[in-house]
Amino acid sequence: MSLPRVALIGAGGHGISHQRVLHALSLSGCVSVAALCDRQPVVSDLLPGVPFFTDHEVMLAEVRPDVVIICTPPHTHLPIALSCLEAGADLLLEKPPVMSLAEHRRLSAAVAESGRLCQVGFQALGSAALRSLVDAEPNGPIGVFGAWWRPDTYYSRAPWAGRRSVGGRPVFDGALVNPFAHALMQALVLAGPGFRPAQAEVARYRTRNIETDDTTFLRVTGVDGRRITAAVTLASAVFLAGEIRVGGAALEYPTDRLRLPGEDTFREVPGRAGLLGNLLDHRADPAVPLLVPLDRTEAFTTVAAAIVGSAPPVEIASRWLAPHPDGGGCVLPGIDEVVREVAETGELPSAVPWAGPSSLVSFVQ
Ligand SMILES: NC(=O)c1ccc[n+]([C@@H]2O[C@H](COP(=O)([O-])OP(=O)(O)OC[C@H]3O[C@@H](n4cnc5c(N)ncnc54)[C@H](O)[C@@H]3O)[C@@H](O)[C@H]2O)c1
Repeated sequence: MSLPRVALIGAGGHGISHQRVLHALSLSGCVSVAALCDRQPVVSDLLPGVPFFTDHEVMLAEVRPDVVIICTPPHTHLPIALSCLEAGADLLLEKPPVMSLAEHRRLSAAVAESGRLCQVGFQALGSAALRSLVDAEPNGPIGVFGAWWRPDTYYSRAPWAGRRSVGGRPVFDGALVNPFAHALMQALVLAGPGFRPAQAEVARYRTRNIETDDTTFLRVTGVDGRRITAAVTLASAVFLAGEIRVGGAALEYPTDRLRLPGEDTFREVPGRAGLLGNLLDHRADPAVPLLVPLDRTEAFTTVAAAIVGSAPPVEIASRWLAPHPDGGGCVLPGIDEVVREVAETGELPSAVPWAGPSSLVSFVQ
């Protein structure tokens, strides 16, 4: 049997990590790397000699790949994904898959019409620790927190970073919809496959000169009454890797350390299934479940669109900020305690001096 021929569109930036996976899978004889594509020249030490294209349409026409990995900026995903489906390719589409619920439904319809597959790049759903937590069926409200630091240069790394829109297209950026997107997606999975958002309160803040937020608070309630409260920041001098807490259990989501109800300490639950490997396994044997089919991410798109579509972030005045000890920008002292408390209590912050109003969003059912 011939090997699946895989192409990568968006070979620079985060695409390097996909190059590594392709390199490993080609060494083990699982794939043939058919093409790399990027608007910018990309010299690949990992995949020398692989045909390189600067235009994905030309690449699709000339190479006719079986599978395409799309790792371009978020606002470019939909048109590229539609072209790939039309060219008969299955997709590994980076997260966030698309920029609105309307786009999500359009892509979902195109996937169904084409009969192709679309796996979305939420690799945290391949976590064995998450599976153990889901299997334990913990009840009650879900709390998510995390406190990280990103210097100001993080927002100059790409033309879409920190932006609300580029070229008239909305962009999903912001602490919870981008760097912490995996935590939000995992929380939505924990809320159950039937979780449909009914209402959300969103409070967004920025500590620097960006269009989007670097500190996000969200309380979303499902039609079944289940509540997820998330509180995350990229402006903390104190690092909290981040946890999802529910019903006496806690998952430290970046590290796969888990504490189930009744347990005193965290233990590591190793194992993460790779999304490209899983897509290839599913293509070969449909009995192998696809880990992150596009439909599984519709609640994420719904909630993320509500976050980026809510009132612009409140700027936190410089008097509440302090320089990061390493330089490179400012931090919000005490924000690590605030995000933990919000996730624990389910109450959005109001007693801090920099608190602003929250936006209320009702979802059409
Ligand atoms: N799954 C994860 O953990 C994870 C981590 C980081 C980024 N991402 C996602 O990966 C995607 C890319 O992020 P990034 O930070 O690498 O962005 P980026 O802006 O650095 O772009 C990636 C590459 O795409 C190229 N590109 C842009 N438009 C293109 C086009 N039309 N055709 C071909 N190439 C094009 C750019 O030249 C660049 O080399 C985003 O969707 C992002 O959210 C996912």
